[in-house]
Amino acid sequence: MDDFRKQIEKEPFTSVATVARQTGTQIYVIGGFVRDLLLGRLSKDVDFVVAGSGIAFAKALADFLGKETTARYFKNFGTAMIRFKGWELEFVGARKESYRKNSRKPIVEDGTLEDDQRRRDFTINALSISLNEKDFGQLYDPFDGVKDLEKKIIRTPLDPDITFSDDPLRMMRAIRFATQLEFTIEEETFAAIKRNKNRISIVSQERVIDELNRIILAESPGRGFKLLDESGLLKQIFPAFTELKGVEVISGKGHKDNFYHTLEVLDNVARVSDDLWLRWAALLHDIAKPVTKRFDPKAGWTFHGHEFIGAKMVPRIFKKLKLPGNEKMRYVQKLVLLHLRPIVLAQEIVTDSAVRRLLFDAGDDVDDLMILSTADITSKNEAKVKRYLKNFELVRQKLREVEEKDRIRNWQPPVTGEIIMETFGMKPSRKVGDIKTTIREAILDGKIHNEFAEAFDYMLKTGESIGLRVVSRKHFPQK
Ligand code: CTP
Repeated sequence: MDDFRKQIEKEPFTSVATVARQTGTQIYVIGGFVRDLLLGRLSKDVDFVVAGSGIAFAKALADFLGKETTARYFKNFGTAMIRFKGWELEFVGARKESYRKNSRKPIVEDGTLEDDQRRRDFTINALSISLNEKDFGQLYDPFDGVKDLEKKIIRTPLDPDITFSDDPLRMMRAIRFATQLEFTIEEETFAAIKRNKNRISIVSQERVIDELNRIILAESPGRGFKLLDESGLLKQIFPAFTELKGVEVISGKGHKDNFYHTLEVLDNVARVSDDLWLRWAALLHDIAKPVTKRFDPKAGWTFHGHEFIGAKMVPRIFKKLKLPGNEKMRYVQKLVLLHLRPIVLAQEIVTDSAVRRLLFDAGDDVDDLMILSTADITSKNEAKVKRYLKNFELVRQKLREVEEKDRIRNWQPPVTGEIIMETFGMKPSRKVGDIKTTIREAILDGKIHNEFAEAFDYMLKTGESIGLRVVSRKHFPQK
């Protein structure tokens, strides 16, 4: 544990300590950096708390460090940020804060180090280390943060109702840290989250989604979602997702609980990929199951079309959650739409044309789709799982073979609309599109090879069959 002192005997801490001595300022390292250091992890984002003005201190430090530094000052917040050799150093004056009821804008008063520690979110984030001459390297831990680190506990320094009402986002941060660090949230702290869950509504959606994404990016995000659900926060921030919960039974027949199933799929994906958007696709792959659920006396529970409806729901969900509406959204949408395709393929005899179609529809995302579909197998029936995985291996092999042979990924059919129009003397019209589709389908079905001469010949036959006449031989292949 004492190892942490070695770290603060190096840059940038030595320079900070020198400037503190020169300017007669009391300064401490505080927050996440200290927490991570004690956990044996070195982060390069450091928060400092200064007795006095954080901005004045940062100006003196920037002068001292010279050219390799960039400094930014935020007068409104009384904070300053210095970048120095890959480090991000943030300075703030010690504060004693109280918050107005319905706003996050604090009424700030200067305070002591302990005042500042008291107003922080969790005991493990309130630890500080002195960089002052008289007690350099001394750890200040008024709320037993070290003990909580050892016991792996998330707990607020003050009465949790006060800490959470100061900044309700801290409720999500509690769950985020519990998920990332694999800690437990102390009972009173968790009870306070349950009591204060409605207050999350005063927090901006940008901050909420940032925390949610951090939970999703944890090693085992499923646990975070269970905590969000148990606390009642999930219903506040993402009600559509809680709709997946529950099992209905009719005539003794139940279906699986899609909430827990989805979390298993998410954890399965998280084991093999760090991609946030692939993880979002896992979260949303069955999102339309509640709205498509039907009971058929013969077939039992069905969720017909949940992949289509689910894909349609994705833009709305992204917009509401303030996730991006760009290609990330379209990627998630595509995976939701296609998530059943590899499973269907794995159940049948895997034909070349079915594989070509999958390659064409998924394009470069076919590998991610295979990850999602494999993760989707959560059956407890071992024999069934084994069979699926074996068939999936077959599908993978086929995908490789067909791709090597036909190059369908990101493929454009060899005959373009221009060629069709020039050859038959047509204007842009639906008919041109129909001919293009017919050629594409013939290639995907394996009726013709994926090459220009065969596709062109097929175009001529298709055109002739609907009464078109050749008016230009410009594109005719050279024999
Ligand atoms: N903090 C707080 N309440 C918040 C946000 C932050 O009390 N709502 C305090 C905590 O002491 C925290 C520090 O500010 O440690 C820095 O916050 P931040 O950079 O958001 O988090 P870290 O704890 O540094 O952790 P990470 O970098 O993993 O987000």
